[in-house]
Amino acid sequence: MCGIVGYIGKRDAAPILLEGLHRLEYRGYDSAGIAVIEHTGQLRLAKCKGRVRELEKLLPRRFKGAPGIAHTRWATHGEPSDRNAHPHCDGANRVAVIHNGIIENAAALRTRLEAAGVAFCSDTDTEVLAHLIAAMPDGSLEAAVRAALRMVTGTYGLAVLDAARPDAIVVARNGSPVVLGIGEREMFVASDPAALVRHTRNVVYLDDGELAVVRADGFATSTLDGGATAKVPATITWANEAYDKGDFAHFMKKEIVEQPEAVRRTLSGRLEPRFQTAHLGGIELAAHELLDIHRVKILGCGSAYIAGCIGAHVIEQLARLPAHAEPASEFRYRNPVIERDTLYIAVSQSGETFDTLAAVQEIKRKGGRTLGVVNVVGSTIARECGRGIYLHAGPEVAVVSTKTFTCTVVALALFAIHLGRIRDLSPGQGGRLLAALAALPDQIDEILAREPEIARLAQDLACCDHAFFVGRSAGHAIAMEGALKLKEVSYLHAEAYSAAELKHGPLALITSQTPTVVVLPADDLLQKNLSTIEEIRARHGPIISITQANRAPPAVDAAFSVPVSAPELDPVLLNIPLQLLAYHVALQRGCDIDHPRNLAKSVTVE
Ligand code: AGP
Repeated sequence: MCGIVGYIGKRDAAPILLEGLHRLEYRGYDSAGIAVIEHTGQLRLAKCKGRVRELEKLLPRRFKGAPGIAHTRWATHGEPSDRNAHPHCDGANRVAVIHNGIIENAAALRTRLEAAGVAFCSDTDTEVLAHLIAAMPDGSLEAAVRAALRMVTGTYGLAVLDAARPDAIVVARNGSPVVLGIGEREMFVASDPAALVRHTRNVVYLDDGELAVVRADGFATSTLDGGATAKVPATITWANEAYDKGDFAHFMKKEIVEQPEAVRRTLSGRLEPRFQTAHLGGIELAAHELLDIHRVKILGCGSAYIAGCIGAHVIEQLARLPAHAEPASEFRYRNPVIERDTLYIAVSQSGETFDTLAAVQEIKRKGGRTLGVVNVVGSTIARECGRGIYLHAGPEVAVVSTKTFTCTVVALALFAIHLGRIRDLSPGQGGRLLAALAALPDQIDEILAREPEIARLAQDLACCDHAFFVGRSAGHAIAMEGALKLKEVSYLHAEAYSAAELKHGPLALITSQTPTVVVLPADDLLQKNLSTIEEIRARHGPIISITQANRAPPAVDAAFSVPVSAPELDPVLLNIPLQLLAYHVALQRGCDIDHPRNLAKSVTVE
C-alpha cells in the first residue's frame, strides 16, 4: 500500500528519498510527501496530491540535510489531498510521522487530543500519532514513540523524525512491512527493499511488534516492551535490473515477457525424473505426514485466489483429494472449522497481504497446518506459515500480477504432482507431467512471439464498454483472471462467468455490443463450451475464443490458439494471451498501465 523511505547519514536525504519514492510509485498511491531535518536543525516539509514528480517540483533548493523520511500514500482515512498526504506533524512542526496501516482507535484519540486543545490539520488517522509522540514527556524519541504506540490499536509500519533529536529515525512495525538497509556509515529505511537496493543489499526485516532506533552508524531493535531483539542481516540477491523497466514501456509488459525465465526458475531443481515426481525442499512435510492429509484448502486474494482455484483443481485431479480455494478476505469472518487432516495453503505474491495473513493466523491459532506459496522471500506470510514453496519469479513491480500468477499455478502443480505420487498417481503419469512442465517456458515464448495477433484482437474489445469472459472448470478460473486483468488496467467492465451459468441470467446482457471471450481448451467439456458459443451467437454476441492448436478454430468472430500442454497445465498457456489482451486493450484505450487508478500492489490493510 503506502510506501515508506527514510535516510540518515552524511549525504543530503532529499535526492535519496525522492529516488526511493520513484521506485515505490508503481505500487499504487495518490499523494506523496517528504520531511527533512535541515542543517539549521529546522524540520522542512513538502507534500502534495499526485505523483512524485509533482512533489519534486515543490522542493525548494534549500531542502538540504539529513535525516529525512518520505512517503507515498494510498488513502484510507481522508480523501487524497495535499493536507492528508504524509508526513504529518505536531503543532510545533517538530515531530514528523509517516505511516502505512490503520490506527483503529484514531477517532477516540483525536477527540481526547482536541479536548486538550490540539488543532488537527488533516482527516488522517496518522496525525494522532504525531501529536501523541510530541506530547510525551522529555526523554528519548524511542521512549516517546514506544509510549504513543502503547496507546494505539491497529496496524502500522511507521517512521518518525524529531527536529529536537535529529540523530535518529525511529521505526516500528505491526502488520505493515519495514526493512532497514545497512550502508557505510549511513542507514536506510523502507517499506519495500525495492526503494533501497541501489544503495545497499544488506537488509534487516523487522518483525511485528518490533521497534528500531536507526542512526547513521547502526541500529538497535527491541520489542514494544523494550526487550532488545537480535537481528541477522539478509542479502538481497536480485540484480538492480530486476527492479528496472529497462527498454520496456511498462513493467506489466516486461513481466509478461519475463515469464518463460520466471517459470524456469520456479521449476529449477524441483523436477525429479528419477522418481517421476517433484522435489520441494521447503514443504517440510514427510511422505507419511502428507498421507495423513485428506483435504486441501487454498487461500489467497485477487489473482492469488484465482491461481489457487486452478491449483485446487490440479491437486484434486492428480492427488484425488478434495481441494478447494476460497478468498482469504472472507475466510476468517465465518468462524471457519479447522480440521486436523486438512492442509491450508496460503498463496501470496507479496507475502504481505493483510487478509491472507489474518487467515493464516486464524488457522494457526486453531491448530491448523499451513503451507505458504509466496514470491517474496522472508515476507511475513512466508515466515508465518513456517513451511512453503517460493516462486523465485523475481521482483514483480507492476501492480497487476502476471508472472507471479503463472508461477503460482506452476508451483501448485509441482505440489500436486508431489502429493499425487505419494498417493495413486502412477510413475508414467508423473513422467508425463514433468515433461509437460519442462516444456512450458518454450511454449510461453511461442505465444509471446505472436503478440501482434493479440494486439489486433484487442481492437475488437478496446471500443466496448462491457465484456464477458466465460469458461468451464479450470477454464472458468482463467476467465476470472482474464476479466480481472482487463478491469485493472483498461477499466473496461469485464465480467467472468462459468460458461454453464451464463444461461441462468447473464445471457440477458448479451447484445451485439457485448463481446464474450470464451476460454476453450480441447478437453472433455469442449462440446459443452461450443454449445455456449452457439447460445451467445444466437443473441448476436461477438465472440473471441482462446483455444488450442490441436483443433480447428470454432466459428467465432476471432480466435487465438495456444500450444497443447498436459490437460492439467493447459490453464497456464490459455492465460498468457489474456494477459497480453488486457495490456493491449489498455494501451489502445490510453490507460496508465503501470499506475492503475485506485489500486495498490500489496494490500496491507483490511
Ligand atoms: C492482481 O493483478 C492484483 N493486483 C491483486 O488481485 C493481487 O493478486 C492481490 O491483491 C493479492 O496480492 P498478493 O499475491 O501479494 O497476496
